[in-house]
Amino acid sequence: MRFPGISSPPRYRRRRRTRWTSSKVRVVTADAEHGWEADAPYDRIMVTVGAWDIPPAWRGQLAKGGRIVVPLRMKGITRSLALERTNDHLVSLSQGVCGFVKMQGVGAHDEYLWPLKGERVGLRFDDGNLADRHKLDGVLTGEHAAAWSGVTVARSEPFPDLPLWMATALPGFCNLTVDVPEGEDPGIVSAEGGRWFPFAAVVGDSFAYLSVRPAGEGIVEFGAHGYGPHGGEVAQAIVEQVQVWDRDYRGGPGPQFEVWPIDRPAEVLPKSVVITKQHTHVTISWPEVGETVQDQVAPRIQQQ
Ligand SMILES: C[S@@+](CC[C@H](N)C(=O)[O-])C[C@H]1O[C@@H](n2cnc3c(N)ncnc32)[C@H](O)[C@@H]1O
Repeated sequence: MRFPGISSPPRYRRRRRTRWTSSKVRVVTADAEHGWEADAPYDRIMVTVGAWDIPPAWRGQLAKGGRIVVPLRMKGITRSLALERTNDHLVSLSQGVCGFVKMQGVGAHDEYLWPLKGERVGLRFDDGNLADRHKLDGVLTGEHAAAWSGVTVARSEPFPDLPLWMATALPGFCNLTVDVPEGEDPGIVSAEGGRWFPFAAVVGDSFAYLSVRPAGEGIVEFGAHGYGPHGGEVAQAIVEQVQVWDRDYRGGPGPQFEVWPIDRPAEVLPKSVVITKQHTHVTISWPEVGETVQDQVAPRIQQQ
């Protein structure tokens, strides 16, 4: 049986209603956090709202070898993942760029905003410590530095793996958010005077963010702008990771995502980037240069 798309309007969240719309489709209105035990196990679960975590009920109600398709948010980046259930965890079969409204109800997860210029220009973190949010106060009025990578991209060329690579390679990864009216100075250098502000990294009392500058007809070069006493070094760290992405991962198969129960000890997780959530550890593994994602993960699945 296919688990239906998750789509209950908030006003129905506290009530559970069941009705038959045909002999093959059952519509249930309930909070998605708990799935729907009555008809489990399911071969397929399709989640059509942005999730921050995979609640135990979803994995528990999935048949072995069954699949969940879910837009999952990791460090502020959402990927639609097709995850297959193995013995004890979920392994991604494919991933796609997507955007979804955020989960409400029990599984809702707030982001943290560190203000840089009021609340209108700031850094958004998926996890972290709200107590640190004033650590960068006043930083925009201090030193500014830029670094450039020599890595270029055509304006029409997508680069979906670059933010993911940065999220896994850079400590203090976050998203820069700028919400000032058209024509108002945001107080930071924007890409080509435009309004493109993607991701950033914070190290200690400084931060830097990815930017671009023109590099020929229809081409731009990646670089970074940094603020704070060590902004130049953080900008340089971003640029170095742009160069690693360009050399080793650009145009490649992308990483493998695996979702493990939270009680799995950290030391037995694969040697990957580990994002620990409320119910799960999500591991993100990049293939060794020249290796495909399948080469990398297949041996681990066979061992189980
Ligand atoms: C992008 S819409 C998808 C609607 C529909 N499934 C579709 O494919 O057209 C996301 C829906 O998820 C619902 N939603 C948000 N949090 C939920 C939760 N915890 N449980 C169930 N539904 C939820 C929202 O109310 C919204 O209707």
